[in-house]
Amino acid sequence: MASSKTAQAFGLKDPSLIHTQGFIAGKWRDAKETFDVTNPATNDVLGSVADMGVAETKEAVDAAAEAFKTWSKTTAKQRHDILMKMYKLMMENNEDLARIITLENGKVLAEAKGENTYSASFLEWFAEEAVRAYGEVIPAPMTNLRSVVVKQPVGVCGILTPWNFPSAMITRKVAPALAAGCTVVIKPPLETPFSALALAELATRAGVPDGVINVVPTSVHTKEIGQEICENSAVRKVSFTGSTAVAKTLYAQSASTMKKISFEAGGNAPFIVFDDADVEQAVTGAIACKFRGSGQTCICANRIYVQSGVYAEFASLLAQRVEEMKVGNGLDEGITHGPLIHSRAVDKVEMHVEEAVKGGASVLTGGKRLEGNYFMPTVLSDVKPDALVSREETFGPLAALIKFETEEEVIKLANNTVYGLAGYLYSRDVGRVWRVAEALEVGMVGTNTGMISQASIPFGGVKDSGLGREGSRHGLNEYMNLKYIAFGGL
Ligand code: SIN
Repeated sequence: MASSKTAQAFGLKDPSLIHTQGFIAGKWRDAKETFDVTNPATNDVLGSVADMGVAETKEAVDAAAEAFKTWSKTTAKQRHDILMKMYKLMMENNEDLARIITLENGKVLAEAKGENTYSASFLEWFAEEAVRAYGEVIPAPMTNLRSVVVKQPVGVCGILTPWNFPSAMITRKVAPALAAGCTVVIKPPLETPFSALALAELATRAGVPDGVINVVPTSVHTKEIGQEICENSAVRKVSFTGSTAVAKTLYAQSASTMKKISFEAGGNAPFIVFDDADVEQAVTGAIACKFRGSGQTCICANRIYVQSGVYAEFASLLAQRVEEMKVGNGLDEGITHGPLIHSRAVDKVEMHVEEAVKGGASVLTGGKRLEGNYFMPTVLSDVKPDALVSREETFGPLAALIKFETEEEVIKLANNTVYGLAGYLYSRDVGRVWRVAEALEVGMVGTNTGMISQASIPFGGVKDSGLGREGSRHGLNEYMNLKYIAFGGL
């Protein structure tokens, strides 16, 4: 339970969605310490949450292992029904859940409602996939043998999630895990634990049995909990979304117990606009893709390559549209873009702008930090391909425009990165669309669109952007093992 002061700070219709304790084996649990969660729009403290550690994580893993014994034996239809109930509860509580997202993450309310809908869609999608997790019958080489393949849940899963989608990055992992018959221990990010705890509350209301979902919020023990989850032999799968550096550490830690893993790590998405593109459509796509969540998504365009023939037109139209954005508290009417998550995020955008400008780029609009955790939505033109913003993920509202001449040149530039999550291109030439989409070294390509995310697609990257896929029927397989059974002596 949350104190009534904390619950009041959120101003929800249903204050019982706010919890400040961890959740283990179906019980809300305190820890020795607590940590403060702040609203990035105001830096006000929203509430103090239990700061759990390794001991609680071990307990949560044990609870999940115990619950696995029965949850893994439920029928796919039973799991479908519970997941659908949770989906409906999330949609019924859309306003409240969105408000929690806005208050702890900063994104504007309309976008937070969109996130909740997106988040709930993973429950619906994987409920429907649960009942279609078919096995196989393989034609056997002998007449007296039959070869069958069944799918089985992997076991307890460790779920490590980021703050940029406080809800959707949890359900993208938890929904397929539960659909497959797995149980989970969730470590939410220290910046946004309230959404995770509200989801645990709704899961209970939907009938998810005790121990199937456990949540261990933490601040100071983040690293140790990550390590415990990766090294605990009862955990059979780890799914993580976050930075490449952390993904590599978790990858190494998971090796000791040979876990199944899926990691969605950093991106540095190229967004390519060719001379034959519909420029207005490309600008709309760039706005949607670059400025979603104030630029804090892993699939945000980071390097915007524009061919010389449409460069001036694209740059001026983009700058005009960006100037119309209204920055402020995401709860306020008329605000289109909220704050960044904290001041360190603002520092990074500022550093990228300054470095690019020193290297010869010019500011078409924005370019300045504002009071608090805000940065003006910014467009830079004539950015050099070797500028910091071209090499590193900015994770902020900065559109960096780089001019190019040929298709061959831009493919080389686009692939000149260790990252490979998403890429985008705009062209009306269908041959070029195919060629470039195939040539980009990424896991996902948007052609003539800046919005690619849905529950039904395989989300994930190549190179340093990660391993495995989330969402889609492939996302369910990540939580299942194949077992071959030979029926002999027929
Ligand atoms: C992410 O930023 O990691 C997720 C973005 C999405 O699902 O659209």
